[in-house]
Amino acid sequence: MEPLKVMARPVIRRMLVLGAVAALSMGLAAIAIADTSADTPGTTLGTAAARSGRYFGTAINGSKLGDPAYTTIAGREFDMVTPENEMKLDATEPRQGQFVFTSADRIVDWAVQNGKRVRGHTLVWHSGQPQWLQSLSGSALRQAMVDHINGVMAHYKGRIYAWDVVDEAFADGTGARRDSNFQRTGDDWIEVAFRAARAADPAAKLCYNDYNIENWTWAKTQGVYAMVKDFKQRGVPIDCVGFQSHFAGGSPYDANFRTTLQNFAALGVDVQITELDVQGAPAATYAAVVGDCLAVPRCDGITVWGVRDPDSWRSSDTPLLFDGDGDKKPAYTAVLDALNAAVPGPSPSPAQSPGRSCTATLSAGAKWPDRYSLRVTVTGSDDWVVTMTLPHPEKIIATWNVSATWNPARTVMTARPDGHGNTWGVTIKHHGNRTWPTVSCRAAR
Ligand code: XIL
Repeated sequence: MEPLKVMARPVIRRMLVLGAVAALSMGLAAIAIADTSADTPGTTLGTAAARSGRYFGTAINGSKLGDPAYTTIAGREFDMVTPENEMKLDATEPRQGQFVFTSADRIVDWAVQNGKRVRGHTLVWHSGQPQWLQSLSGSALRQAMVDHINGVMAHYKGRIYAWDVVDEAFADGTGARRDSNFQRTGDDWIEVAFRAARAADPAAKLCYNDYNIENWTWAKTQGVYAMVKDFKQRGVPIDCVGFQSHFAGGSPYDANFRTTLQNFAALGVDVQITELDVQGAPAATYAAVVGDCLAVPRCDGITVWGVRDPDSWRSSDTPLLFDGDGDKKPAYTAVLDALNAAVPGPSPSPAQSPGRSCTATLSAGAKWPDRYSLRVTVTGSDDWVVTMTLPHPEKIIATWNVSATWNPARTVMTARPDGHGNTWGVTIKHHGNRTWPTVSCRAAR
């Protein structure tokens, strides 16, 4: 059964009407009430995904941030960013105890300046290790792992949406663990990493991330599933599972991916598609993957592993949504259309686990000739994500008592608690259209 992520549209609509009646009875200027903006198709991947409360991200390679063709597309289309290599062990701790964040900071700064959130990738991985780490073993390696998690997460505390705490810990072809220096310190290394990560930044979602776990019938999928189930049963802190989704000849997309996402979500974790690329970029496969995520309320969002084909780590496969000229490929259109086909608001399915729903209601605040404020009250959860979509041509100009990011156009905002409780506010420049925005609420954990 899918836990509930609710957008209580009827409730919001009722509140809008009540708000209008209240405003009129108070002798204030009539406010045009309409609730149509979420029905407007998104024109970028990020805004189309936001219609259903999801994100659409890309891997960003820091070395390309100086390329305007690259940043134009990345800035326009995506609202979540994963540093492709810059947060890995060798990049962030090249010498033991000496942390270097220059390259990763450039990406995080770019993301924040452009209203995007960041997935942290990755804290503990068998690959991309600096020399000093490769020569450690036993308790010294265990301690180095925890120190690394603490060092990196402290630097980015409060700024990361989700961390890939552990990447690729399972072997291909079996349900067993992959051999690695970390694995040789003992089976419990993964839960030790997750516990350390929770303590280091309680606000970040903590994910296990892997490839070849998309096909429900594969032994590796079952191995990871058993681990997550065990973690949830024993209270090991885990919030999400990332499915890399590098689809190619040896690991083709299979329609049972949806079953996999559903089954993991039913364990009580969010699921995310974290590194999507498809050999040859067939439009139908991309559309199917998007459809699978949209079918699962706890599928938070999708990240593609690069912007244009030549930016891809496997560029000869031309697996991405933009070609080398920066033009949209057929797969792009298929993805955009699939996202826009989603029912606005995170698909609520009734009669699900209690305690995971939330509702955001709007009420009128101050008004000025050129702008107005709204108060937002969240009920049902203290750990939520509210997505607000503004009708054209309105723009968000300020928020208070909330941690918010928005797209460059200032038309879609994602808001999370900042420690000031569940009532917060937003100021909107109306540019002649005083229609209130639509909001959706999702319980974060
Ligand atoms: C890849 C990068 O894309 C390459 O640039 C780098 O040389 C190697 O790593 N699984 C992961 C990612 O979790 O970190 C990998 O990224 C791709 C496979």
